[in-house]
Amino acid sequence: MEHLTINILGVSGAHRKARNSSFMVQEALRSAEKVKGVETQFIELADFKIEYCRHCNKCIFSHDDTNRKHGGNCIIKDDMQKIYPLLEEADGIIFGSPVYVSNVSGRMKTFMDRLRPLAFKGTFGFKVGGAVSVALLAFGGQEVTNNIILGAFHILEGITVSGMATGGAGYSGPPLGPRGADDDGKNIAVKDDPYAMTSAMMVGRKVAETAKVIKYGIHALGAEFNDLCSVYHFPLKPEEWKRWNINLI
Ligand SMILES: Cc1cc2nc3c(=O)[nH]c(=O)nc-3n(C[C@H](O)[C@H](O)[C@H](O)COP(=O)(O)O)c2cc1C
Repeated sequence: MEHLTINILGVSGAHRKARNSSFMVQEALRSAEKVKGVETQFIELADFKIEYCRHCNKCIFSHDDTNRKHGGNCIIKDDMQKIYPLLEEADGIIFGSPVYVSNVSGRMKTFMDRLRPLAFKGTFGFKVGGAVSVALLAFGGQEVTNNIILGAFHILEGITVSGMATGGAGYSGPPLGPRGADDDGKNIAVKDDPYAMTSAMMVGRKVAETAKVIKYGIHALGAEFNDLCSVYHFPLKPEEWKRWNINLI
């Protein structure tokens, strides 16, 4: 069988670089790399300037735009333009966020909103996404945060996997790390949380293995893959509307 490279991208949405959330994502990537054929890349959103989505709707294809001329791209020319190609190239994505008031960080949310153009392009249809998160407390909202990430990727037409429970879940506070008020920004307590490390490892493995199966499946289908629906929100080809009896949009 022809050898295919499986690309897994890790994205940390923390404001603090090289801390707990970033360590969790990288732990998942280290695990992904153990799957034969996998190559990984890691980015910190804190290195990029990302504006809010303006809801201009320019990223939505018009229904008769079968040449994909007018949609699928974001008109905001900021650092997201550097990240979009990485997402296009990735077969699997591991999203990591600190828990902020039982939710993702504002940075991660802004990033996820800006993924909307790719949904209209069908970018994520056969890509795999997993989630990891870190809170101060052992039960500080990791589960809900992971589900928010997975829900977002799901609605963007991606294929979500868990690995373990809802994904990777770690904590950075006592008894393993400092109390919030004593957190001087140097500690990576999550390293010493066995549940965090195990769950991150399982997310990395699951994302990589699922992405590998899908990529080889697409390869095996060959030209027949092009008959599959490219964008479920807005089927691009009018003949598809007829075949699938779509009257709604
Ligand atoms: C605005 C804000 C909100 C937070 N909300 C929570 C929370 O809801 N639950 C919790 O356990 N920790 C909460 N934390 C603590 C962080 O989740 C925790 O310090 C985590 O380790 C941060 O990730 P980092 O080390 O990658 O920066 C909050 C921190 C900030 C700054």
